[in-house]
Amino acid sequence: MSRIAYVNGRYLPLAEAAVSAEDRGFQFGDGVYEVVHLHRGRFTDEDRHLARLDRSLGELRIPWPIGRAVLPGVIREVVSRNRLRANGLIYIQVTRGAARREHYFPAAISPTLVVMARALPAYPKDVDAWATGIITGPDQRWARRDIKSVNLLANVLAKQAAKEAGAFEMALVDGDGMITECASSNLWIVDEVGVLRTRALGHEILPGCTRAALADMLAPERITLAERAFSLDELLRAREVFLTSATSFVRPVIKINGAAVADGKVGDITRRLFAAFSRHVQGDLSNAA
Ligand SMILES: Cc1ncc(COP(=O)(O)O)c(C=O)c1O
Repeated sequence: MSRIAYVNGRYLPLAEAAVSAEDRGFQFGDGVYEVVHLHRGRFTDEDRHLARLDRSLGELRIPWPIGRAVLPGVIREVVSRNRLRANGLIYIQVTRGAARREHYFPAAISPTLVVMARALPAYPKDVDAWATGIITGPDQRWARRDIKSVNLLANVLAKQAAKEAGAFEMALVDGDGMITECASSNLWIVDEVGVLRTRALGHEILPGCTRAALADMLAPERITLAERAFSLDELLRAREVFLTSATSFVRPVIKINGAAVADGKVGDITRRLFAAFSRHVQGDLSNAA
């Protein structure tokens, strides 16, 4: 069955789904996106993702391409037309639209909306098997990383460097030697004295929806979070490290730059948070926003 994408009001086979060569997403990276996880018909943190899309659009002064209340229906139609019943991902892309190439915002222009869906391997059950390795490198991105823009060149280069080093991700180090996040995920540590830490929100990191959902799950686990940046050195000395994203969920990091994190095994807090987030994905509404 050919995959179906929504493009500006039409549901099309992927091979026919196209935007103009003058689209500002293509010309300038002038657009934003969202990625939402689907688990057996249920969208994980959908409201948070749509709220962040609204914020990203607002920050770039791109109007909503369709009514905000209409988008969930389009997403569901794309899922249904692609017969996605198990684990999947929805990609929503909005650009400022297509117009004669000029840097200024064009006057009368309609935003471009593309919605795509694809299947994902089964949700991870075994936290030890889900553990991974990362490398570290410089954060070369622009100054507004809080906007989920389609400008992902520095992220692409970082992920490629990670892949070539046999790792999954790159932890990005800012000019002060502090970790911001990873190329496509937020990064957390349990530091040397046992405190769970992740960088505070600001222009330096993407406000992850998984980060926010997980933060809401800490109280029942009696775990306190310090939203405080950590240095590269603190990362390398951490007791536990894990990353979060809509596609990685809670993913343990047991190796950094080829060296083991602590004893090289998944730690207790990571294990508990992996379990809590798994319950959340599988519909434990006590954790819903
Ligand atoms: C740079 C960056 N940070 C963090 C995240 C995690 O965000 P979320 O949990 O909303 O997927 C992503 C997700 O793609 C990302 O690209």
